Amino acid sequence: MNILLTGGVGYIGSHTAVVLAQAGHQIVLFDNLCNSLKETVSRLEKIIGSSIVFVEGDVRNTELLITVLQEYQIDSVIHFAGLKAVGESVANPVLYFSNNVQGTISLLQAMQATQVNSLVFSSSATVYGEPVYLPYDEEHPTNPINPYGDTKLQVEIMLRDLANSNPDWKIACLRYFNPVGAHESGLIGDDPSGTPGNLMPYLARVATGQLECLSVFGNDYETRDGTGERDYIHVMDLAEGHMAALSFLNAHAGFHVVNLGTGKSTSVLECVNEFEKASNKKIALRFAPRRDGDLPIYFAKADLAKHKLGWTADRSVSEMCSSAWKFQSSQSKQ
Ligand code: NAD
Ligand code: WQD
Repeated sequence: MNILLTGGVGYIGSHTAVVLAQAGHQIVLFDNLCNSLKETVSRLEKIIGSSIVFVEGDVRNTELLITVLQEYQIDSVIHFAGLKAVGESVANPVLYFSNNVQGTISLLQAMQATQVNSLVFSSSATVYGEPVYLPYDEEHPTNPINPYGDTKLQVEIMLRDLANSNPDWKIACLRYFNPVGAHESGLIGDDPSGTPGNLMPYLARVATGQLECLSVFGNDYETRDGTGERDYIHVMDLAEGHMAALSFLNAHAGFHVVNLGTGKSTSVLECVNEFEKASNKKIALRFAPRRDGDLPIYFAKADLAKHKLGWTADRSVSEMCSSAWKFQSSQSKQ
């Protein structure tokens, strides 16, 4: 298949590109590089062993997308492009609605104009909000608690309505839990600019000595050890989940929402422990107050992905930490 990956140079897009290319698909990466580096494209070429088509552009440029969809005879789109920093979305909601919602409208207009009707969308477990029950299954009420989550839910609603309007559409919204880890080569991974807001890249930088100490946000939650619990999923499992979703859509039209998680939760202290083993480094930590907006615990019910897509996330937290460490330690040598 010919597959367009919007946001394909980013963290999850680049790992998915590897999986798709290695399975023999023709991939086209489309990205405005607002949160990624062009060098990732050459690193991907090194992993894959062949050249990659990369188009630099913004998804809000509908005309450019139409040209790309036609020129490369695209069969399916995976729509990763978007902004994802929760705090920034609270400070600047218009930026988030413009990138994430307007960007998706532009993509859908381009797809309609070129009659490309197969789409996988990067949604997020953040659409669920405060848990009414756990694990979250796909029927759990949606009630996002920040503008970033609002944009994801708005896009899901638009995609549902689009699929209802025309039975030819094939749409999967994949609700990711907490993607972490890196490709086994150590060439690509999660490399946020500035001080990382997420646990795993922060831990990795404490282990290399770039950051002094991890602040553990809250140790008085009603969880196994008092620290927050999340459903961490290896980014390569996640990448394979996208390929499974594309295969599923080949045979099933309509609108589908599927969780991509492991079904298990891991605490902050358990992550620290696994990272220390993987890196053979002591992680300095201190207990800090709870972070605003954090939920104590959430994790996925992952059964639907298994039954519908024939996919499960099998890689362990230890593999997540060792691959993240391989990536981070090779980065800091450069
Ligand atoms: P990322 O920032 O690494 O990748 C997103 C890519 O999209 C970047 O390369 C960025 O340059 C590009 N981009 C952003 N706006 C664009 C625009 N207007 N036009 C063209 N390109 C644009 O993030 P990621 O972690 O790879 O996330 C990919 C998708 O998955 C996002 O939509 C994100 O909201 C979603 N998601 C991420 C997580 C997570 O924890 N990483 C969890 C759930 C959902
Ligand atoms: C994990 C745990 C923190 C950093 C975010 C987004 C969510 C989704 C994934 C896109 C929590 C604790 C963290 C630190 C810490 N993204 N922590 N010290 O908050 O679950 O999810 O990324 O859709 O929308 O909100 O991930 O990695 O930030 O935090 O103690 O320096 O680690 O309190 O318990 P989170 P995270």
